[in-house]
Amino acid sequence: MDAAGRALRLFREEFGGEPETLVRAPGRVNLIGEHTDYNEGFVLPAAIDRDLCIAVRPRPDPLVDVRSEGRERRAIALDRFEHRVGDWSDYVQGVTWALSEVGYRLVGWDGAIASDVPVGAGLSSSAAIELATAKACETTAGFRWDPTEIATLCRRAENRWVGVASGLMDQIACARGRRDHAILLDCRSLDLELVPVPGGASIVILDTGTRRELKSSAYNDRRRECEAAARELGVGSLRDVPAASLPISTASLSPPLRRARHVVTENARTLAAAEAMRAGDARSMGRLMNESHASLRDDFEVSSEALDAIVEAAQAADGCFGARLTGAGFAGCAVALVDEFAAASFERAVSTTYARATGRTCTAYVCRASDGVSAQSR
Ligand code: GLA
Repeated sequence: MDAAGRALRLFREEFGGEPETLVRAPGRVNLIGEHTDYNEGFVLPAAIDRDLCIAVRPRPDPLVDVRSEGRERRAIALDRFEHRVGDWSDYVQGVTWALSEVGYRLVGWDGAIASDVPVGAGLSSSAAIELATAKACETTAGFRWDPTEIATLCRRAENRWVGVASGLMDQIACARGRRDHAILLDCRSLDLELVPVPGGASIVILDTGTRRELKSSAYNDRRRECEAAARELGVGSLRDVPAASLPISTASLSPPLRRARHVVTENARTLAAAEAMRAGDARSMGRLMNESHASLRDDFEVSSEALDAIVEAAQAADGCFGARLTGAGFAGCAVALVDEFAAASFERAVSTTYARATGRTCTAYVCRASDGVSAQSR
């Protein structure tokens, strides 16, 4: 049973009767443009066909009463925000806090949550629960939905309530995804363009089976290092470093300058990748993905043995245009662009090579770029 079916079943068990609305929020995969969003650069993510769902029914008092599959039930008061509890419900509370703080008037609701987006895998289960919560608030309170503004408020919840200094990529992908398209987002102007996934190419997600927790990872450190590098280079943000001003040779660059080089070259690769996608050129797109992985591994240093092993296995397999780690890194998933006719043999080849190299099991799935968060009346 998929997440929608499980959320509906959980709702009946937990709250009795029927929900009024079913909210769906997708995970996302980033095709290229990694660790560039908080440096005001470019990203190219797509929403995927894996959802987090909430079955929702309004209630008369100012309380959000939520149960997430396999977790404890939590009651969140909308008239007095408490401190974070340190679990999944912080995302729900954080979003209700961020919406209330800027004047949205919320009403209470009961909600049952089930998800097919793996947690800690780099597929943005956190943006999915944030946007799904915002959507549940919209359907119960009936306010105007501006997807970019809501995505920005969800990011604020993650930064200020949960305590992860993430950029805006995940929330925009979840809010504004479109079937069969990736989103080229300029993280400075917030201008975005939908770019079609090249025909004949499949997006394959390769899960290493290793997990990280974003809060405790080096994510916040990397962000600080980028700020330090920008200061060292005399710019407000790494977006403004001209590519020509950074040495190309690999040796003897200090860590902050290597971080900067990744961001500068990744921005250029992301724009080139969007161009390749517009032209339906999966080969060029794949080459840029391979280069992105090398830069994340050597300059930004956010890969891991498992991620390197799975990316190498993918790049060596027949039909692969290119592969790279996706999301924050450190653990989780890689993404590959693969000839659609080779997708099945590709999955088998990667699983075998990866198992031989690491003793671990790889879970691979072909995913389809999908629409962003939505709500359906029941
Ligand atoms: C996480 C963050 C994003 C982005 C990526 C790295 O997914 O939530 O904002 O910084 O890492 O590209």
